[in-house]
Amino acid sequence: MNDTVKIFDTTLRDGEQSPGFGMKPSQKIIMARALADLGVDVIEAGFANASEGDFDSVYTIAEEIKGPTICSLARCNATDIERAAAALKPAGDKARIHVFISTSDIHMREKLNMTPDAVIEQAVKGITMARRHVDDIEFSAEDALRSDPEFLVQIFTAAIDAGATTINVPDTVGYTEPDEMYAFIKYLHDNIPNIDQAVISVHCHNDLGMATANSMAAIKAGARQVEGCINGIGERAGNAAIEEVVMALRTRPDRYGHIGTNIQTEKLGPTSRLLESITGCEAQPNKAIVGRNAFSHESGIHQDGMIKSAQTYEIMTPASVGMGETNLVLGKHSGRRAVAQRIEKITGQYVNPKSNIMVAIMQDFKATADKTPNGCVTDDVIRQIATPYMSTIQSAAQSFMARTHG
Ligand code: KIV
Ligand code: ZN
Repeated sequence: MNDTVKIFDTTLRDGEQSPGFGMKPSQKIIMARALADLGVDVIEAGFANASEGDFDSVYTIAEEIKGPTICSLARCNATDIERAAAALKPAGDKARIHVFISTSDIHMREKLNMTPDAVIEQAVKGITMARRHVDDIEFSAEDALRSDPEFLVQIFTAAIDAGATTINVPDTVGYTEPDEMYAFIKYLHDNIPNIDQAVISVHCHNDLGMATANSMAAIKAGARQVEGCINGIGERAGNAAIEEVVMALRTRPDRYGHIGTNIQTEKLGPTSRLLESITGCEAQPNKAIVGRNAFSHESGIHQDGMIKSAQTYEIMTPASVGMGETNLVLGKHSGRRAVAQRIEKITGQYVNPKSNIMVAIMQDFKATADKTPNGCVTDDVIRQIATPYMSTIQSAAQSFMARTHG
């Protein structure tokens, strides 16, 4: 690995900002411990001025969690910044204040009722205030991807001059597509004169299902911090899923020039499960990397390939992301090789996949699979199907042994 992308985890802030994902301070600290263990570089622990509970969460996480930088969100106003600074105090030099203000025409006009010049002034004021408390300042231009790129160059240049060490480019409404993101980040990278004094960060929402793709495009264009959430949770359709970004980098060094992360990938699965148990919301079964079906194969052709070599249908091992073992799900698309292998696993008895017994078993199996509501035939049912054939299978095996061993 010759280049590293920082992983900024906002599960406890943006992730929590969505219906059904609210967490109590006691749950946030459990999650923060897991995130630190996973190896994220920054934990956005909350929005300290949003509520007493959020303040307490940021404070407790800043006090207890060692390793990652601990961050609180704040608008560019004195109250938010003071609260963020107070909550982050125990983190010492590992504290980051993340200030933001909108920069798109629609947000400046409709939401802030401010002129672009006034927005720059407010951003600089906020950063200067935050800088009195900590050295590590992130500045976000909310709705950046719908903002005028020339205006962004101006505001980011002023932000870096005022002391911002990370400039974050949020696709707040998940509107962008990858080519556009690449060109946008490249433009900023090439036109902000003091960009060598800050890290470019990207923060993608998933309204069009492109949050991960956009994050990857941003990395190609020079972003070296990616913001996201475990399981891709977050406001509306969610944020970029950290596990996807990390594994895209890991799986495709040919595309990303050996850019890596500090994540211990085998902890991705357990961290995902922990979030599910805390929030009570399971990731969709077909969710990349951490979904329950991410390493399950049902079709006979795929199962046959998997039995011959896992690389035929898996681009990473389940163990490499802490997802246990490959699961060959037996259903109506499964073939006799997979069914025979499962019978052997359940009963300890080898069955020749090419034998007449297997032909008969497969008839019963397919009829059962067709009638099974979710299409998945469980091991208990396989055992029931195989049981009437067991004595024939055993005597076939015995006569085979007698023939081959004299
Ligand atoms: O989506 C967004 O714009 C945000 C910012 C506060 C970074 O969450
Ligand atoms: Zn966001």
